[in-house]
Amino acid sequence: MTVSRTDNQVLAEEVTLFDRSMAVPVHGEVVRCHYVWLRDNCWCSECRVAQTQERRLFTADIPPDIAPTSVAMDGDETLHIRWNDGHTSAYSAAWLQAHDYSDRARQGRRHEPTLWDATFTSIPTFEHDDVVTRDEAQIAYLEAIRQYGVAIVRNTPPVPGEVERFAQVIGHVRETAFERIHNVRHDPTGYSVAHTASELRPHTDMPSYRWPPSIQLLNFLVNEATGGESTVTDGWAVLADLRAEDSAAFDTLCRVAVPFQVFSEEEDTFTTAPLVELDTDGRVRTFRFSNHLVQPLDVGFDEVEPFYTAYRKLGRMIASDRYKVAFKTSNGDLLTVHGHRVLHGRLAFDATSGARHLQDVYMEYDDLMARRRVLLGSHRPKSALEGVR
Ligand SMILES: [Fe+2]
Ligand SMILES: [Zn+2]
Repeated sequence: MTVSRTDNQVLAEEVTLFDRSMAVPVHGEVVRCHYVWLRDNCWCSECRVAQTQERRLFTADIPPDIAPTSVAMDGDETLHIRWNDGHTSAYSAAWLQAHDYSDRARQGRRHEPTLWDATFTSIPTFEHDDVVTRDEAQIAYLEAIRQYGVAIVRNTPPVPGEVERFAQVIGHVRETAFERIHNVRHDPTGYSVAHTASELRPHTDMPSYRWPPSIQLLNFLVNEATGGESTVTDGWAVLADLRAEDSAAFDTLCRVAVPFQVFSEEEDTFTTAPLVELDTDGRVRTFRFSNHLVQPLDVGFDEVEPFYTAYRKLGRMIASDRYKVAFKTSNGDLLTVHGHRVLHGRLAFDATSGARHLQDVYMEYDDLMARRRVLLGSHRPKSALEGVR
């Protein structure tokens, strides 16, 4: 066992022990792991429920001074550790490599979505029968949602309720107030501007929930009216540009809570939230934008002008022709959008010129990505003991 070297003395051939962590040679590279992290991830049958692979070990019971008393690297394949709490653990090199949490490894594993603007005229398009019957086609469709936040599925049977059947193939319907399946057609008594023949500016749906639906499926059963082209806009692309051009405006939109409400005679949904919410790495996670549903701001006096300045800038970008992709859908087209990323809208149509009826349901992005992992066979945690000698 080697003891207490400094960082620049770490060698790729031997395990090096530091005060609270170790450096392990793995297939010619060095992986750094903390003792507490290794102990917490012991995969033995005492620490894991064999049947389910869930953690049995109660993490808070690990002593704060946990450290190895001996360490051995068996060939290049297995790390064996005897701990000062009397326990022994083993970890395969492949597992250590797969869970390397160095900045470089984490960067390499990070998914980078492809942002797009008005020049994105080739929205990924799939055939309905393919997506519902062939795994490879379904994976490609889910991959498109992951990468671009938008996809079109053509030749969906133009039958009421078909959108729900499709949703159940790729995940689960997220129920919200109003209807499980929303009907969007010209209706002078409807509760939403969607039920008029007017233009619908780019927006995200149901910002009035603390967690808005993160997937929306819009199935065009009939689309024979004049006008009414659909639009999609990559909200994350707009925000990336705004952030680069005016970071103060971007920060304002992350900070100021905006009230949103959608209601009808019988139902109500209401929340306050900033338009932009970031993940722990500072990347945009949730974007909500629905100008027609914003209620009077209720914020500190000094926040009002900065908010309107930032909101004006954002709104003008969204309304411009720089980001919006417009296209006419046909009967049987099913449009999928990532509801926390891609804004949808439509141009005005002539309600007397022909029928226009679409049905939409909401879903959750997490469920679609879970479906993708299941189809790829990458959904089970890898055992640290797999391949251990
Ligand atoms: Fe909408
Ligand atoms: Zn164990």
